[in-house]
Amino acid sequence: MQDTKHKKMKAISQEFTAKFQYDVFFSQNIFQIDNPLLRDLLSSENTEGKRKALFVLDNGVHEAHPDLQKQIVAYCFAHSDVIDLRTVPILVPGGEKSKNDYSLVDYLLKEIDEFGICRHSYIVGIGGGAVLDMVGFAATIAHRGIRHIRIPTTVLAQNDSGVGVKNSINFFNKKNFLGTFSPPQAVINDVSFLSTLHPRDWRAGISEALKVALIKDEGFFREIQANVSNYEQRESHAMESLIYKCAVLHLNHISGGGDPFERDSARPLDFGHWAAHKLEQMSNYRLRHGEAVAIGIALDVTYAHLSGLLPEDAWKEIIVLIEELGFRLYVPELSQNIDNGSDSDSILAGIEEFREHLGGQLSITLIDRIGHGLEVHEIDRRLMTQSIHTLKAHHESLMALEE
Ligand SMILES: NC(=O)c1ccc[n+]([C@@H]2O[C@H](COP(=O)([O-])OP(=O)(O)OC[C@H]3O[C@@H](n4cnc5c(N)ncnc54)[C@H](O)[C@@H]3O)[C@@H](O)[C@H]2O)c1
Ligand SMILES: [Zn+2]
Repeated sequence: MQDTKHKKMKAISQEFTAKFQYDVFFSQNIFQIDNPLLRDLLSSENTEGKRKALFVLDNGVHEAHPDLQKQIVAYCFAHSDVIDLRTVPILVPGGEKSKNDYSLVDYLLKEIDEFGICRHSYIVGIGGGAVLDMVGFAATIAHRGIRHIRIPTTVLAQNDSGVGVKNSINFFNKKNFLGTFSPPQAVINDVSFLSTLHPRDWRAGISEALKVALIKDEGFFREIQANVSNYEQRESHAMESLIYKCAVLHLNHISGGGDPFERDSARPLDFGHWAAHKLEQMSNYRLRHGEAVAIGIALDVTYAHLSGLLPEDAWKEIIVLIEELGFRLYVPELSQNIDNGSDSDSILAGIEEFREHLGGQLSITLIDRIGHGLEVHEIDRRLMTQSIHTLKAHHESLMALEE
């Protein structure tokens, strides 16, 4: 008998692949009129006519480079056969403020509309990881995606956040709650921006390099170890090498890891990040992302050690390196409400938030040796609490020595 209630027709199977390609360039003084990189990028596609462009500039970069806006205008004027600059570079607040304030996305969308920025135009974001995340988000939701070029200006944005495929803002007081996976048209890392970074931001990006070295590349870990004093003295070549290798490892993971848009649960590049994201939020973004990542790594290697995965020598080497790099291993938020017996308002709530953010099964990356990550799907709360107490005790003994 025919089932009329659940009548079925043959499903139409739909399948296609879309190729993505973009370059990460390394250059210097990219707005000097005789530097052709940006001009060439905007004219590289075989479409006739000029390209409309909208520049969005991190206010922190603007303050450190007060002539930059004028330089951009002069560059676009000199190349006006190719670039149609729609308005002077738009300033937005720098840092996490730009991701915490949805009205900035609204503001950019209005500017995109007002200046007739279409799917064949370009939005060029210049700034730290936070501003680039927010600008990328606005660019990828307007008209279902406008080409965006990223010009990262911090170590972290040049070696990690600016070179990847993710764009986001914070929402419901949760990190990266709203966002898109959408690769940029191109990325231009201009080393000349790095000289004006605050020491905290010069250092913060090193933690992402340490992260990727710990899960993928022992040789890179050794390079970081050998260059601690060079980073401390702001030696540019050492930092350029760190940025380059870190960017390569991230890019290779995205293109070769089999999951560029993170549809599976495993997220190795988020090593140390479940705690980092929660700490950023708990500290009301007093902590930079990179600083929180350093603590997150310290916590997860301590956990890996206490759970018998990571040998003591390797654990100590990592902890010593994090400290030598100038990062803290502990902030009070780490142990806030930790002994209450409930996860709420404690860092441990970050585990469930991380699972929700990934979707599906909990998957946390740990390491069993330097240069080798592995996934675990359960966290022992008691052992994690013990790990936090270990870091706290270590921090207190260091403080006592300094007094
Ligand atoms: N999309 C991703 O895949 C991804 C990956 C990692 C991190 N992130 C995000 O990146 C953000 C952190 O980025 P960040 O570490 O670059 O910090 P940031 O963007 O918060 O910038 C830190 C400060 O540096 C200032 N600044 C930027 N460039 C400067 C320069 N050249 N000279 C002087 N001051 C300058 C900014 O105005 C800001 O005050 C976080 O929101 C994090 O979630 C995103
Ligand atoms: Zn990160």
